Amino acid sequence: MTKPVYVLGGPNLNLLGSREPEIYGHETLADIHARLEALADGTPLELRQTNHEGELVGWIQEASEKGAAIILNAAAYTHTSIALHDALKACKTPVIEVHLSNPAAREAFRQVNYVSPAVKATIAGLGAYGYELALMAAKTLTGK
Ligand code: DQA
Repeated sequence: MTKPVYVLGGPNLNLLGSREPEIYGHETLADIHARLEALADGTPLELRQTNHEGELVGWIQEASEKGAAIILNAAAYTHTSIALHDALKACKTPVIEVHLSNPAAREAFRQVNYVSPAVKATIAGLGAYGYELALMAAKTLTGK
């Protein structure tokens, strides 16, 4: 059975489309997920979003066992969560970090990043297209 690529989103990404569209764009999370489904070409996807840190940790642990790869936008937890960092360090599957905006070009509090040091690659600043690039990379990395 083909293992799924987990596409995991953190807090407030459920508000995409209406949340600061000048920064995050006009597409909803459902729009982004639909783009990925169209690109998946037989690769199963687990598309999930949560506003809860512990749930994200649990999903990373699950994907480590059951997933082929993880595409992760940890949103604000990127800048705060040592628990996520530790979960990613323990994760056996490759993880690609995605951000719609480019946090490196934003506020000082976004310059701390606990995710990047624990992942294979980071794509930031390309909006929803970054998710498509991440899926293409995940497929290449996992030989699909
Ligand atoms: C974000 C960037 C984070 O700094 C922010 O907290 C988010 C979204 C992005 O996709 O650009 O919620 O991860």
